[in-house]
Amino acid sequence: MNSKYRIAIDGPSGAGKSTIAKAVAGKLGIDYIDTGAMYRAIGYKAGRENVEPEDKERLSEMLADTEIDFSDGNIILDGENVNSLIRTPEVSMLASKYSAVREVREKLVELQRNMGMRKSVIMDGRDIGTNVLKDAEYKIFLTASAEERADRRFRELQEKGREQSYDSVLEDIKQRDHNDMTRKLNPLRKAEDAIELDTTGMDIEQVIEAVMDIVYKK
Ligand code: DC
Repeated sequence: MNSKYRIAIDGPSGAGKSTIAKAVAGKLGIDYIDTGAMYRAIGYKAGRENVEPEDKERLSEMLADTEIDFSDGNIILDGENVNSLIRTPEVSMLASKYSAVREVREKLVELQRNMGMRKSVIMDGRDIGTNVLKDAEYKIFLTASAEERADRRFRELQEKGREQSYDSVLEDIKQRDHNDMTRKLNPLRKAEDAIELDTTGMDIEQVIEAVMDIVYKK
């Protein structure tokens, strides 16, 4: 294996990208960068400050005045750990909405490229293999059926004691798939040189093993 390498993991919402990427990062001893968390942080902040995506002036001001970093696996927005605040269904929708905005993507993609240059990383998102780290040594496209993804998300929310019906979770997933795949800028799609892994019916351990196999076998 090269001394420095990048692993790009892309795929739709709820495919298990972050769980898998975190576990693989731990096994390989490299950094994990959750780019979805960065879009969530921006969505959260814009929502809190009532900055509409159409209001380019205020949005650009807000972005220029925003710092995003990771510390011990936590996302830090302007010095505040916002990890637990950005995992709500409301912020999911805000993240999807603001991630379609050019100014937001430009800022975050630049940050992500810088993070990917410093050391070996595993980065997950929607456009990592196609845009952010086009020359990543390893590219994986993680998918699962919309129903299975909704089922996983539904259980996760239930465990956290959050009330949301399965039907509305499935609806949200389909809506976000649609947004992420049809937006003009860097839509979600599989890079030509990515390996597709359909995880429907697989458990977490099996998926981690499949990813480790890809990394070791290449
Ligand atoms: O992976 P996630 O659900 O935390 O991502 C939140 C939103 O951010 C999702 O709707 C798509 C968007 N996103 C993106 O456009 N590009 C990325 N690289 C990562 C996430």
